[in-house]
Amino acid sequence: MQASPIGLMRLALISLLGAAIVESGTAWSEPTEASRPRAPAGCPKDDSGLVLPPGFCATVFADDTGHARHLVVSPDGVVYVNTWSGRYYPRDGKSEPPDRGFLVALKDTQRTGKADVNQRFGETLNSGGAGGTGIALYDGFLYAEINDKIVRYQLRHGSITPKGSPQTIVIGLPLGGDHPMHPFAIDADGSMYVDVASATNSCQIKNRTLNSPGQDPCVELETRGGIWRFDARKLNQAFTPSARFATGIRNGEGFALESGAAHRVYVTQHGRDQLHANWPDLYQAEEEATLPAEEVLLISHKADFGWPECYYDPGQKKLVLAPEYGGDGGKKVGPCATKTAPVAAYPAHWAPNDLLYYDKQAFPPRYRNGLFIAFHGSWDRAPYGQQGYNIVFQSLAGGKAGGTCEIFADGFAGPQKTPGTALYRPSGLGVGPDGALYVSDDVRGRVYRIEYLGGAAAAGSGQITQCPDAAAGAGPISTMSEKPPEGTNPDAGAKLPVPPGTSADMVALGNRIFHGEVGGAACTGCHGADGAGTPLGPTLAGTEWLWSDGSVDGIASTITRGVMQPKQYRAPMPPLGGAQLSPEQVRALAAYVWGLSHRQ
Ligand code: HEC
Repeated sequence: MQASPIGLMRLALISLLGAAIVESGTAWSEPTEASRPRAPAGCPKDDSGLVLPPGFCATVFADDTGHARHLVVSPDGVVYVNTWSGRYYPRDGKSEPPDRGFLVALKDTQRTGKADVNQRFGETLNSGGAGGTGIALYDGFLYAEINDKIVRYQLRHGSITPKGSPQTIVIGLPLGGDHPMHPFAIDADGSMYVDVASATNSCQIKNRTLNSPGQDPCVELETRGGIWRFDARKLNQAFTPSARFATGIRNGEGFALESGAAHRVYVTQHGRDQLHANWPDLYQAEEEATLPAEEVLLISHKADFGWPECYYDPGQKKLVLAPEYGGDGGKKVGPCATKTAPVAAYPAHWAPNDLLYYDKQAFPPRYRNGLFIAFHGSWDRAPYGQQGYNIVFQSLAGGKAGGTCEIFADGFAGPQKTPGTALYRPSGLGVGPDGALYVSDDVRGRVYRIEYLGGAAAAGSGQITQCPDAAAGAGPISTMSEKPPEGTNPDAGAKLPVPPGTSADMVALGNRIFHGEVGGAACTGCHGADGAGTPLGPTLAGTEWLWSDGSVDGIASTITRGVMQPKQYRAPMPPLGGAQLSPEQVRALAAYVWGLSHRQ
């Protein structure tokens, strides 16, 4: 047994992020019989609800595996999934019984597109485990991240689960902070590349705080914010700063190894958050949703990709200086001129959680030798609508993007693309020996299997959906947020009670500020469009108050101060929700929030 990473994560001041925000524990509703998808034409077994290019079909391969993160498929078709617990996913006894192993082995022995064998192994909550993200196969072993370690299990002939205890490969990986996950990949020569992501958003002296400058130098880069390299064949390697392979990578969750002579290793980059929220004098409200780009990086020894001093501006197509380090809102370049730019860029806050190099023959030729990217989706575009929550295909040419990308699979989230309401969120990717693509979801632990059946309409490129340009605008304020809190009844919002000493006009103004229509605050990003809460912030529509007596004055003072150390949530609420609001606007907001909590 070892120290629980949960405690360590709690110590970390903040862990707001696009990437790993995923948990259950909030109010989403089960899909009803009526909303359950019908199989598309030509795909009789398709029960996935996904939108795919013509000729592709998907099945729900497995469900309810836990918070499924990355997955890998063995040469004989066993799908191994790593699942995660801890602060990112509030524990609930129903889906995570204490004695259930965090690793899952799934196999479809009847060729139905569904796993009929489902076995669990590895550490459990009872044994002190918290699961993990990273998983890989190498040389007859299954490698998996668990707590602060990467361990390996010898696979046995004739059994899909290993026996006996694992061997430790790496120990002492940093936990805590914004990004405590450690995805990894193992190259043919045994090089194990491990993502040790940043503890903070942008290495500010005070993480995610208004106008707080960057630490100079950014000390955490010694042990975080980069890719570390270990030897997959060596036991008991201690994590050390000297094993760093590449740096300046805030959060590189997805790895892809390009097969063939070039031997390229790609990693995704989750761009930083809160350019407007923390630097409102330098960035417009909508730039919170459009900057910076998400990236795919081609890593090489000692390369520096610029975090935290630089971020990638998709409009100017270059790295520019971050406001924490003297940036002026996107013109100054400074030291960023010497950092390594990405090989491909995507719209901000799509959250690329996994990457897969596809080299099988099963999909039409246009999908060969390119990258599939699992976009988990995020919160930081609020109050603008969230995007991502999809699988994208990116063709490659000589180690660079070979043209614009296409949306390959969509429909995971269901009607609402937000962290609190998405039904499923793409988290990991794997490819089977037969060329089928597997996608894991970390909300409910669904695993999808996508295959190509071909057919008349299929192979052409006429019916593909291009990705929006990485520099596309923020889009409209989320239509979810435009609805009154009661949902479908258009007059319902008007029925909010008006607190004594205020007016119906104030409540109405508060409604508009809350939903981002005035003042640029992102309250809905964390508290939900209806104020009923999300994984990032509590309900404001209840009767219990954590931070005040629930009076208009009390609520206004919480909004003004923010909540630096939440009692029940892992990430702080910035003062004024990260916006700049006048005292009148705060009072209107407080009147509206009071109304939410006094609704009949
Ligand atoms: C980045 C996420 C985030 C944003 C944005 C945000 N909040 Fe919060 N809010 C939180 C968290 C976290 C808490 C504290 C919960 C806890 O202590 O566990 C909180 C607490 C509160 C509380 C106190 C609730 C109580 O029980 O006492 C109020 C009121 C509130 N927020 C209103 C707002 C308003 C209004 C906005 C928009 C101006 C806003 N918040 C923006 C995350 C957020």
